[in-house]
Amino acid sequence: MTTTLSPNANGLRALCALPTVQALPRAAAYLADLVQNRSFLNGHVLPVLEEARGAEGWYVARRWDDPEGSFSLQVFVWPPGTRTEIHDHSSWGAYACAAGTVLEERYERLDDGSRHEYARLKEAWHLSWSPEDGASTVLPGNGGIHRVGNPYEEAAVSVHLYGPRLEEVDGRDYDPSRDYVCDRPDDAEGEIPQYAAHEWPFHDHRES
Ligand SMILES: [Fe+2]
Repeated sequence: MTTTLSPNANGLRALCALPTVQALPRAAAYLADLVQNRSFLNGHVLPVLEEARGAEGWYVARRWDDPEGSFSLQVFVWPPGTRTEIHDHSSWGAYACAAGTVLEERYERLDDGSRHEYARLKEAWHLSWSPEDGASTVLPGNGGIHRVGNPYEEAAVSVHLYGPRLEEVDGRDYDPSRDYVCDRPDDAEGEIPQYAAHEWPFHDHRES
């Protein structure tokens, strides 16, 4: 398969316009390259890793949102001992570790989704990801129920690419201790430093 590193927002928009099954491997290749890119690491990973030393919770340190809504690229910071809720997204997603190591847990849904605010989950697998390991991908909704965290002693940084949102809500949060699921209305837009799509983080590109 030929993959092309998308050099700019237009390239990424084209990638995100593809059907999910075609977009996901390209998104994974894009992120696997991005986390090896020197200028991206120097500009957007090492500085946030520094900031992470004093932080308690995980947070999104940088994000680039396409004004047309076709993608969102986000840099997550994981201080030691932090993790998300178990959740899914209303879009496909891909992510790669850019510094340190993150732990991803994936869940399967055992019920048929017919009962309001009820979900029975079972852990399907978990994997540790470091920068040389490439990227992980999730399908929208039930195809991508997951948790990301950093149970290790060093801070970690990961880069996430989300495709176009397919539903009104951002996704769902799960609490398997009481078989509970609820909608997550929206992400914390506005609290996060926004970079316009034209201030794209790097201009290095490669074609094959
Ligand atoms: Fe997620």
